[in-house]
Amino acid sequence: MIDKYYLTTAIDYVNGAPHIGHAYEKILTDIIARHYSLRTDNMFFLTGTDEHGIKIQKTAASSGKTPKQLCDENSQKFKDAWKALDVNYNRFIRTTDQDHEKIVQKIFQKLKDKGDIYKHEYEGWYCQGCECFLNPKDLTEDGLCPDHLKKPDIVKEENYFFKLTAYKDRIIEHIKTHPDFIVPSFRANEVLNQLEDIQDISVSRSKENVGWGIDILDDPEQSIYVWIDALSNYITAIGYDPDNSTEQFKNLWPCDVHVIGKDILKFHSIYWPAILMALDLPLPKHIFAHGWITIDETKMSKSLGNVVSPTSVLETFELPNADAFRYYMATSAPCGRDGNYSDQDFKEKVNAHLANSMGNLLNRSLSMLVKYFDGEVKSEFIENRSAEAQSLLRTALGKIKTVENHFNHFEIQEAAQEIISIVDDTNKFVTDNAPWTLAKEEKMTECGAVLVTVLEIMCIVSSLIYPYCPNIASDMASQLKYNINTKYDDIKTDNIKTGKLISKEEIHPVFLRVDSELADKSKPVKV
Ligand code: ME8
Ligand code: MG
Repeated sequence: MIDKYYLTTAIDYVNGAPHIGHAYEKILTDIIARHYSLRTDNMFFLTGTDEHGIKIQKTAASSGKTPKQLCDENSQKFKDAWKALDVNYNRFIRTTDQDHEKIVQKIFQKLKDKGDIYKHEYEGWYCQGCECFLNPKDLTEDGLCPDHLKKPDIVKEENYFFKLTAYKDRIIEHIKTHPDFIVPSFRANEVLNQLEDIQDISVSRSKENVGWGIDILDDPEQSIYVWIDALSNYITAIGYDPDNSTEQFKNLWPCDVHVIGKDILKFHSIYWPAILMALDLPLPKHIFAHGWITIDETKMSKSLGNVVSPTSVLETFELPNADAFRYYMATSAPCGRDGNYSDQDFKEKVNAHLANSMGNLLNRSLSMLVKYFDGEVKSEFIENRSAEAQSLLRTALGKIKTVENHFNHFEIQEAAQEIISIVDDTNKFVTDNAPWTLAKEEKMTECGAVLVTVLEIMCIVSSLIYPYCPNIASDMASQLKYNINTKYDDIKTDNIKTGKLISKEEIHPVFLRVDSELADKSKPVKV
């Protein structure tokens, strides 16, 4: 068992509704959270929304709303989506929450008192999409932001600056001596390159230009820059206070992992560590930068009209819950690489893995147990396992550690492949041993031993697939009379007890094939 596990997602901007890219990150994080909930009694999963800044101020103004109204409406859309996707966070922080705002002001004051924040006249190129000043050398040939392909605003203001350069050497040292700080490790070089020519950063905006922000306590002319506000959520949400942090904070910090997209790695692996160093706080253990989700191999954008809402997939395929979508998203790319969503691929993959391989295996094993033994497990079935059956069962049990190890490295797709490989091996075992032939030949003990071995392995499979597909896993476990809350360390190979396991009426498929006709008719739903 692990002492504790604290993990966070990026907090999303609320100038629009959530899309499938936001959903990808929250699903990945929820899967990691549920996995760790079976390895510790002390897991905390934080998500939320990032609500200040010029972009939100402008979106609100153009739709005739106050920024707060816009934030309330859109933040609720994120909450609703996560509910529909079974994203089961412990806290949903909004950067407009009063406890957050109050502590951000104190953090700013502390850094100012320490001399890490100073005032400076500044002129630079500010990208509203990034909510940050851009280095002129990072602009495209036409002078556009490379991510948003928009011309940045020229801003000339007196701002507060944070002495990022004072922490440069320590950050470089930390990255070099902690090879698993940035995951995947191939991104660490990118960050080291960016560190080469960093400057001190502007950490405030004039209130005149950006009114929608947290006030600086002793300077009414300025508001706190959105990234300082946003990044601080990871500590304010669990009770950090420069004067007196809560027990919860002492218990959970340092964070185990910040799950974020690759586009905001710089903020998390340079700015955030520097702020934490300035506050004398330990750094997070890992920053996991996931890849980008495309739709039919095309980047999502409002202008292309291909922005897919996170719940439209559930509606398109009339799914009873989010399990299949979660499974598909989580397995769409290897650790840290870009993934893609397509209706056709979704349908094929979930039908093959969840219906044909996994669901069917459980369903036919239970059906045979009912057909041949009236659903009863006899002690001789358990006592007379063949060497092959014993070895298969041992291998399945051993995969728990393999899967845990993948999760230690945020290899969510890779872990799922291990789980499906247990299912494939077990399907092969059933085909090779043909329990229906054994029954015909009246080798009833052998037949029962094969079936009960499969059911025992399905208990392990239900535990391992639970983080991805909590509904399916719980349904599997209930048909197996297995406790789905069993911690990974406590899983053994005696879960199937002697006696009546199940009746004919109780048996039902855990996952129905996704209808091909529904998919063919579907169009992406615009948000
Ligand atoms: O960056 N595929 O908010 P955001 C995968 N508020 N991930 C995607 C994606 C896609 N197509 N589009 C967006 C912000 N994301 C800041 C974060 S954290 C202290 C502040 C991911 O709404 C993106 O990479 O622009 C980020 O991790 C998250 O969604 C929120 O993006
Ligand atoms: Mg973004």
